[in-house]
Amino acid sequence: KILILDFGSQVTQLIARRVREAHVYCELHSFDVSLDFIKEFNPKGIILSGGPNSVYESDYQADPALFELGIPVMGICYGMQWMAQSLGGKVEAGKVREFGFAEIEVNNNNPLFKGLSDRVHGDKVCLEVWMSHGDKVTAMPAGFEVIASNASCPIAAMADTTRNFYAVQYHPEVTHTIKGREMINHFVLDICGSAPSWTMPNYIDQAVAKIREQVGSDEVILGLSGGVDSSVAAALIHRAIGDQLTCVFVDNGLLRLNEGKQVMETFAEHLGVRVIHVDATEQFMGHLSGVTDPEAKRKIIGREFVEVFQAESAKLPQAKWLAQGTIYPDVIESAGAKTGKAHAIKSHHNVGGLPETMKLSLLEPLRELFKDEVRELGVALGLAPQLVYRHPFPGPGLGVRILGEVKKDYADLLRLADAIFIEELRAAVDEKSGKTWYELTSQAFVVFLPVKSVGVMGDGRTYDYVVALRAVVTSDFMTAKWAELPYDLLGKVSNRIINEVRGINRVVYDVSGKPPATIEWE
Ligand code: XMP
Repeated sequence: KILILDFGSQVTQLIARRVREAHVYCELHSFDVSLDFIKEFNPKGIILSGGPNSVYESDYQADPALFELGIPVMGICYGMQWMAQSLGGKVEAGKVREFGFAEIEVNNNNPLFKGLSDRVHGDKVCLEVWMSHGDKVTAMPAGFEVIASNASCPIAAMADTTRNFYAVQYHPEVTHTIKGREMINHFVLDICGSAPSWTMPNYIDQAVAKIREQVGSDEVILGLSGGVDSSVAAALIHRAIGDQLTCVFVDNGLLRLNEGKQVMETFAEHLGVRVIHVDATEQFMGHLSGVTDPEAKRKIIGREFVEVFQAESAKLPQAKWLAQGTIYPDVIESAGAKTGKAHAIKSHHNVGGLPETMKLSLLEPLRELFKDEVRELGVALGLAPQLVYRHPFPGPGLGVRILGEVKKDYADLLRLADAIFIEELRAAVDEKSGKTWYELTSQAFVVFLPVKSVGVMGDGRTYDYVVALRAVVTSDFMTAKWAELPYDLLGKVSNRIINEVRGINRVVYDVSGKPPATIEWE
């Protein structure tokens, strides 16, 4: 396994992703972990991430004794600068900040660049990389040689092949560095000698054994939301302990069309999981009645979920474990939020968050996995790809997509309109990419606006509600662009909604990016 030390770069998670894609297990930890921690972790290699600071004036310093452990180390950007400074080299502020594509000339006999080439100019082999730095290394520590350079960055990469120390000034983890993936593969597989054994079937075997060992003969409860994470967690735990698992599925009346039915079909019928289905629509609608403030609505939905879940779990007094679909980015995020080192990310009210008063131990079998890995695992466990590759759906459900007061009638109209939009996105194929528009968007849904406008249908005047279509493209949901859906697709969706959903006579398209707008309307 590989240890990644995080110096606070925005893209550190991508390093972890690339290492996992090389089928090597890795973990990401703060740069200031102790030497004992590193020894205990016993990594095959260490990667030092980038970071926003300057090494010569920052307290972002790891323990330089890590260079004495005989373990290969790769520094990226700030990681390179910290390596250079720690081993006796020199780092200085550059005259200009370099940001964007850069061509570097490389020695591709070196193990890191072995055989790589994007372009050849005479006897020069060049690679296209993504630079983003102000400072740079101006003198290398003893034992190092330059393995890549260009005019503005004469030491763009350096290596000490005897001690297996490598450092690059650019970012190999981002896709803009064309051969970045290969460089990371070379480091973790060839230089560190890690075995590519992080594969789904292996993972399932290990995870199943671990769950059995943790849980023994105890019973486990899990709040199934229909979302990807809780679904995959349920399927995995069920694979491990069968009927010792009971799922509680709370229908809050704010789910998408037929969602309750699909969850029961998938889990109870197809996988044979024991699922308690609670229809709590009236309870939720009752408490939401008259409430218009978005934050108040979120709180009520979260609180009522806990109420229902606790009442149901009280009926299973023998349960000792509460299972949750926490995934690795959640773990990293909350760790970052605690230490304040990684950039704090907007914390969402998660309906899955249950109070500690529930005297249950936590079982979180997906804690090590990235989202893509969770999906892959879901498919390997027999969940339908349609379910596993679904767009995310917020915990408060349609509650944040009905502006202002939530009413059952509004939810019913919204469900129908939303189903039409999604059906058309799944059916429409983009000719250029061959993908459906559902696949080309990261999240798409309909928002219900409780305002009426005038229309004409047949010979009559109508006075009905408005809905907005929202479709965005994003990789991290922190920023997003509105999706450039084809006009004919928008036209078709609009026609169908207005013709098929009585009560809606106007459809608009949301063309706001995030920021300044958010993805959801509330
Ligand atoms: P915003 O609206 O903040 O949404 O741009 C970013 C992503 O988070 C989802 N979201 C939520 N998920 N509980 C959740 O579990 C929430 O309260 C919540 N609010 C927003 C949203 O759907 C989008 O994917």
